[in-house]
Amino acid sequence: MDTHVVILAAGKGTRMKSALPKVLHRIAGQPLIEYVLAGAAAIEPRSITVVIGHQAEALRSSLGQRGDITFVVQEPQLGTAHALLQTQEALRGSSGTLVLLSGDVPLLSAATLNALVNRHITRGAMATVLTAVVEDPTGYGRIVRAGEQIARIVEEKDATAAERQIREINSGIYAFALDGLFDAVRSIAAENAQREYYLPDLVSIYRERGLIVETVTVPNADEIRGINSRSELAALSRAVRDQKNAELMAAGVTIEDPATTYIDRDVSVGADTVIHPCVFLEGRTTIGAGCEIHAGVRIVDSAIGDHVVVLNHCLIVKSRLGDSATIGPFAHLRNGADVREGAHIGNFVELKKTVLGAGSKAGHLAYLGDATIGEKVNIGAGTITCNYDGVNKNQTVIEDGAFIGSDTQLIAPVSVGTGAYVGSGTTIREDVPAGALAVSAGKQRNIENWVAERKKKQQSRD
Ligand code: UD1
Ligand code: CA
Repeated sequence: MDTHVVILAAGKGTRMKSALPKVLHRIAGQPLIEYVLAGAAAIEPRSITVVIGHQAEALRSSLGQRGDITFVVQEPQLGTAHALLQTQEALRGSSGTLVLLSGDVPLLSAATLNALVNRHITRGAMATVLTAVVEDPTGYGRIVRAGEQIARIVEEKDATAAERQIREINSGIYAFALDGLFDAVRSIAAENAQREYYLPDLVSIYRERGLIVETVTVPNADEIRGINSRSELAALSRAVRDQKNAELMAAGVTIEDPATTYIDRDVSVGADTVIHPCVFLEGRTTIGAGCEIHAGVRIVDSAIGDHVVVLNHCLIVKSRLGDSATIGPFAHLRNGADVREGAHIGNFVELKKTVLGAGSKAGHLAYLGDATIGEKVNIGAGTITCNYDGVNKNQTVIEDGAFIGSDTQLIAPVSVGTGAYVGSGTTIREDVPAGALAVSAGKQRNIENWVAERKKKQQSRD
């Protein structure tokens, strides 16, 4: 039987106090709506319709690349039933089950969604409500039962004191039979404290008609926690991070201080890697096995090999580190730095769009940009590739085994041949042939007694 997914995301998210739509706020690097979409994928829906309204364009452009989403605009936003009604055109001719999700409930598991759909179908229900039993039900709609059966859902603002004591709450997630759904939703009235069209009213409408309404109760209420404020965003982020850290530790990664370790959902880390406190691993980063990532390191969208050591306070963005490379402390790799096997990068070295070949070393204070550096090259302290002439970025090539003395400037485009030496303090403007020594500094001149002479002059002036 077909399933279709509708995600409600038109609401204003007033309590976020944000210019950004609520569902674009991020948890562990990903917008809330991406979690919901990933969850929806688990039930292999035939269609996904997202109801947008408040800041519709921001949402549309954020999700626009995905061709499998239909957007429907709800304007003005008159409540959850009114929101669902807007999808009628998009779903015309569809049959089977409609699963309704909330854009601000990110942690729903695939297992729970499948359980919801299975119960709904096997019981032949018109509606199935996902519920949870919570310690503090404040703010949620309460599930009112008549015996075992769900009778209706009452919103907090419309509930009697007795109803407010009920701890079984509506998650706002449902499965509906599409057959007759929109006619029934249209019969919902806005006769309530908020003058809104409440989708949960469908429960009593169906029950009064003697139709089957089922419930599924989630085992873990965290799954249906919604985000309404920045505090809830932080709390849920914490929960997601804890879970990611726990998964990695179970797979053999040492995390010294999970409380200060921030690892995004899609990051992978190999066994026996040790992660010290205050480390950030973000985006599509992969870390190999047996690595050591020291405190204060941030790695974004990068691929790190096996047995790599990253010392304290390195920033690595969109770069690669080969097996057994060592880097840091205080190194900056960005935008296409490619450090090959066994290479070494020391403190205060910046690499951009640069290959540093296997076994090569840049130990101290260097800027290497737009450069291709071969194997077993030694880059002295204070080496700078002058890659930018004010108009173009130019390439520097340094062949295998070359030795670049300290305080060298390489004015690109320029190349240094295999095994060549560049003396300290040299400004390289022309290519250096293989095996040559290049020097450009003038001859040194010593002026004897210069210090004493100067002192004398100063005294006579005083
Ligand atoms: C809703 C339920 C409540 C349930 C709770 C679970 C109603 C009336 N109440 O309350 O029973 O316990 O969710 O979190 O449904 N939205 C629109 N258009 C609108 C209004 C809302 O798209 O006109 C979207 C929101 O963006 C949000 C979702 O629907 O993603 C839920 O709306 P919200 O206002 O947060 O409902 P709650 O008051 O939390
Ligand atoms: Ca809500």
